[in-house]
Amino acid sequence: MSTERVFAELQGDAATLHESIRQHLERNFAPDARKYLRSFSSTEAAEFLGLAPGHLRKLHAEGKLPDVALDDRGRKFYTAEDLGRIRLALARTTRDPSLYLRGRVGQDALQVISCVSFKGGSAKTTTAAYLSQWFALHGYRVLVVDMDPQASLSSMTGLRPEIDFSHKGTIYDAIRYENPLPMEEVIRKTYFHGLDIAAGGLILSEFETETPYALRHGSEPPFYLRLRAAIQAVEANYDLVFIDCPPQLGFLTLSALVASSSIIIPVVPNFIDVASLAQFLTMTSSLLDTIREAGMTLDYDFLRYLVSRFEPSDGPQAQVAGLMRANFGKRVMTEAFLKSTAISDAGLTHQTLFEVGRGAMNRNTYDRAMESVNAVARELETEIHKAWGRL
Ligand SMILES: Nc1ncnc2c1ncn2[C@@H]1O[C@H](COP(=O)(O)OP(=O)(O)OP(=O)(O)O)[C@@H](O)[C@H]1O
Ligand SMILES: [Mg+2]
Repeated sequence: MSTERVFAELQGDAATLHESIRQHLERNFAPDARKYLRSFSSTEAAEFLGLAPGHLRKLHAEGKLPDVALDDRGRKFYTAEDLGRIRLALARTTRDPSLYLRGRVGQDALQVISCVSFKGGSAKTTTAAYLSQWFALHGYRVLVVDMDPQASLSSMTGLRPEIDFSHKGTIYDAIRYENPLPMEEVIRKTYFHGLDIAAGGLILSEFETETPYALRHGSEPPFYLRLRAAIQAVEANYDLVFIDCPPQLGFLTLSALVASSSIIIPVVPNFIDVASLAQFLTMTSSLLDTIREAGMTLDYDFLRYLVSRFEPSDGPQAQVAGLMRANFGKRVMTEAFLKSTAISDAGLTHQTLFEVGRGAMNRNTYDRAMESVNAVARELETEIHKAWGRL
């Protein structure tokens, strides 16, 4: 078969596929169909607010909190906006407002946390999605940056990359070499109160191909400073930034590493993934060394391995997780992100458990998965507060 013919066929197939994906999405996600976040039960609200459920009830009964709506069975339910209002009310009544307003104050530095690894499917996107939503629901001002051309984090944050912005309006526009846009122009609000996104998209792969040319021609600023500068431009608006990276160690991932104050490396504990991790660490450290030689100071608050998609009852997995702990010590997070059908089922429709809700699945499965998410996020919250000198 001639090369031309193969090219023509590939192009034809690409066009057909794009069109049928677009039609599928139009049919299945009617415009605006996913623009609202569900409301939360009082148990969930208490968890988000950091109160015991009984305490939350008592504060309502004493009239110390703004009213919230009731469902048809007379139970209170809370929107994310309600949580924001309640937090402000709580902060006004206490001597230590930081108990309820958990974000940075004064000199606290913006935390920029990248989820990286070049092993595909290690739960980078799932981790970034759950953590960003957890922190937003817990009262932090959060930005997610989707540096992956696959744009799966953008989908999980309620956007529809294939129809909403196939060409314009991604983080690429803020870091591209030719006429980059100001970062504020590419950031959009999501239907999660307190969670904004700089979306990803296929166009990001252009950055990988343009960068060698830009390096040869001395374009300023160099590739590794572009994302950092874009984030710094909107720094005042956020407490935390989560960056999701593609499963390669290319210019996009390196840009994220340079822009980061901390790094999370999710690792599925099996031998193939850990072998790939060894290679990833060698390459990353040598590349970061090159960047450092170019005069950059890289100063990380923490680097953590997160055991992801973990099945504690699986013998070989438990062994590999043990090996990671023996080798990396405290750099492995104590809490692991458990494998759960609740998480993979929700993932099929690009949703998280925060969106799907407990009523929609087996309650025990849901609760176990949510407990694991909460535990991981709380451990990370402690690290962040340490970086802010709170603990
Ligand atoms: N804790 C979990 N339990 C069950 N399934 C999970 C869990 N974490 C992730 N998954 C599933 O594993 C798959 C890969 O996860 P994810 O997309 O987050 O990985 P990734 O590292 O971002 O992949 P890529 O390298 O392609 O970007 C997804 O189908 C996701 O739903
Ligand atoms: Mg991913």
